[in-house]
Amino acid sequence: MNTVTKTFARAALVLSIAAPAMAEEFRLGLITPPSHIWTQAAEDFGTELAEASDGAHSVTVFPARQLGNEAEMLQQLQTGALDMAFMTLAEVSNRVPDFGALYAPYLADDVAHAGRILRSDTATGMLDQLPAKVGVVGVGYGMGGLRQIVSRGEVDSAEDLAGLKLRITPFDPILDFYNALGAAPTPMPLPDVYDALANGQVDAIDMDAELIWKLKYYELADTVVLSNHMMFPMVGLVSGRVWAELSEDDRALIDELMGKSLDGTIDTYVEAESEWLDQIRATDTPTVEVGADFFGDAIEKWTAIWSEKSSSLEDLRAVAQETAEE
Ligand code: BEZ
Repeated sequence: MNTVTKTFARAALVLSIAAPAMAEEFRLGLITPPSHIWTQAAEDFGTELAEASDGAHSVTVFPARQLGNEAEMLQQLQTGALDMAFMTLAEVSNRVPDFGALYAPYLADDVAHAGRILRSDTATGMLDQLPAKVGVVGVGYGMGGLRQIVSRGEVDSAEDLAGLKLRITPFDPILDFYNALGAAPTPMPLPDVYDALANGQVDAIDMDAELIWKLKYYELADTVVLSNHMMFPMVGLVSGRVWAELSEDDRALIDELMGKSLDGTIDTYVEAESEWLDQIRATDTPTVEVGADFFGDAIEKWTAIWSEKSSSLEDLRAVAQETAEE
């Protein structure tokens, strides 16, 4: 557990005068479908928590936006109406812009490097801000691979993206990136993406390799741009109000077991990402492989904005350098 989380826990402990361990039925929300890696990790956490607490605690997982979108779930966590959530860091970065630094284009060279950055003390230390700023405890990071672009039209250069209605996850760092490219970024939650691409409501989408492959977005496209331009962290959250009422032993157990499940998603993406990319390459949809040069001065423009908004950008770049492969 990180320092601020510990401090928060200690303060809560004093207030609650060492809350005794009580049986709890926790509710954990996600926007991802039941079969998704994040949802499976949440289920695994619930199973392990029930076992480790000899059945005293249980976790009911609510996938697929059953409890609302991520903004709504974050609000529920703040009031204590929801106990836990696994969600994109995107929503958290809308509340705490410092997290925008983790979306620096090409901060990570590849998915394994993204994992090393997320596991660094610098990245995990950023979670210390959450109790005070958002009223939630950030237990740890998971991951959703690196971002790619799927387009209904041919894409040979970044100019081909200019003016395109391009679906993005609703958060500012990605909005600024595509604005800098001259595209028309269109915020849209995950469940709406397939139909929007199929019916031409959007011309292109920003997406990860796993879902491009598994949800068959490539079938709707003329080009898949394999760019790996950004990482896509996930975060495991516990309501600050709920956390304050837990005993110290329960907090330690949840911290350990949820942390393990979250971290396991990083291993899963590191292992499987290259296979998904190969499967996409093997489809009939043309792929183009691009790097940072493809995006011209958009990355510089992004950096100019986010070095003002996030004080962690420089430190994360230092971590990225330290953890890059020789
Ligand atoms: C997305 O918004 O693209 C997304 C959200 C959650 C999991 C994976 C992708």
